[in-house]
Amino acid sequence: MARHFDVLIRGAQLFDGTGSPARGADLGIEGERLAAVGSLDAATAALELDASGQAVAPGFIDVHTHDDFAALVVPDMGFKLRGGVTTCVVGNCGFGPAPFAEARAMAEAFTPGLSLAPYDGTRGYLERVEETEPGVNIAALAGHGTIRLAVLGREARAPEGRELEAMKAWVREAGDAGALGLSTGLIYEPGRYAETDEIAELAAELRGSGALYATHMRDEGAGLLDSVREAIAIGESADLPVQISHLKASGRENWGRVVEALALVEAAQKRGQTVFVDQYPYTAGSTVLRAVIQNEAFDPAQTSGGIGAVRPDDVVVASAVGHPEWEGQSIAALAEGFRLPPQEAAERIERDAPGATVVLHMMSEDDVETVMRHPATMIGSDGIPTLAGKPHPRLYNTFARVLGHYARDRGLFPLETAIHRMTGFAAQTFGLGDRGTLAEGAFADLVVFDPQRVIDRGTFEHPNRYPDGIEHVFVNGRHAVRHGALTEARGGRALRRATS
Ligand code: ZN
Ligand code: CU
Repeated sequence: MARHFDVLIRGAQLFDGTGSPARGADLGIEGERLAAVGSLDAATAALELDASGQAVAPGFIDVHTHDDFAALVVPDMGFKLRGGVTTCVVGNCGFGPAPFAEARAMAEAFTPGLSLAPYDGTRGYLERVEETEPGVNIAALAGHGTIRLAVLGREARAPEGRELEAMKAWVREAGDAGALGLSTGLIYEPGRYAETDEIAELAAELRGSGALYATHMRDEGAGLLDSVREAIAIGESADLPVQISHLKASGRENWGRVVEALALVEAAQKRGQTVFVDQYPYTAGSTVLRAVIQNEAFDPAQTSGGIGAVRPDDVVVASAVGHPEWEGQSIAALAEGFRLPPQEAAERIERDAPGATVVLHMMSEDDVETVMRHPATMIGSDGIPTLAGKPHPRLYNTFARVLGHYARDRGLFPLETAIHRMTGFAAQTFGLGDRGTLAEGAFADLVVFDPQRVIDRGTFEHPNRYPDGIEHVFVNGRHAVRHGALTEARGGRALRRATS
């Protein structure tokens, strides 16, 4: 008897997300799940898509995002969906979604006038995501910086016993609510005031739960290797897997050090520790200008800031609320106009446009490729969703750029490996059950794309462009992108850590 599905995708090259090479197969979707994978010639469906010549893969999992509030206030999430992303892990770099007041204060800088009813803790956040039904699935990390801000404010000291207990309680709350782990941002205020022990003790609250420790390390410049050692030591002490966020060597004098950083990762893996990394596929990063100022990155002689030394030419304003005329201009150019040294010019910009973000051209292409080739590497956009300014093009284009530029055109690895890094590998590491691979019974998060055409189109001048070649996206069985265009269907859910 012929089977009948809601959706039938015919004739695609199936990349199942496990890293296996593609095979020809049809896919049948029933409701929120993938009901059948194989030869479905006799089947019928309410919607049949001819995908011959196209690839079908699990929806991309963006393991490093800052979409905590975007998911609530820009719920269509078109900037992710149009790039093939079906799940975002929020709460990175120490900026988590809870406690509410502190999380909101941090987000206000990027999204002025943000109006949101309060929620209670990570549990409340995930419930709010569920009510909102954003376009993509959202999973959350607890943010150490946000928690520290709630308990200690901006004080540059270690917590006292009571304070540490209060911070632990927030970490536990997040873990119980299904957070995937704890993140730190150790170049940022107030995360940077935490010593190793404080972080290890907080992370240990999640021991045995399957959660991980994700870190924007203390120093990605001259102190890169010590920072990797610190991350690994925290994972070892807390007995948690470690996820090193956006691994890079920042600042010219540090280029090449990613090789030694990866050697430290391998050594820890050999000792039996779980240590992985993530990366965005560009030689430029992006962050808040305030962090560049606080780490004294404009001082060419500095050797202890977490960003390394950057040239004012290489730092470009991405968003400056109230001063769009600064967006797209370098700190060097603005400093000349203000007749100020770069550091003072940056301080003025931060004063007049608090929360301004910048793009920093501070990595080498060799390093980017070295990290990407490494089998420990997953893909995370690290996009900052300042949609009104000139955000880093990674916000929209990360996954298409890895597939089109790095896998197909540069030949760094086969397409199935690229896809595995952004799907099955990520789902397994972060504990996202029934996602990341296209097996019968899995949630129907999937993307149909043209492997010959897929490519990033956003540039630093014109970042707000969607990539080419992403044809269809399904999220929990809902058809979110149809022939390259966003539909009204929003299928995203709050994802909680799968306990096995
Ligand atoms: Zn970061
Ligand atoms: Cu980040």
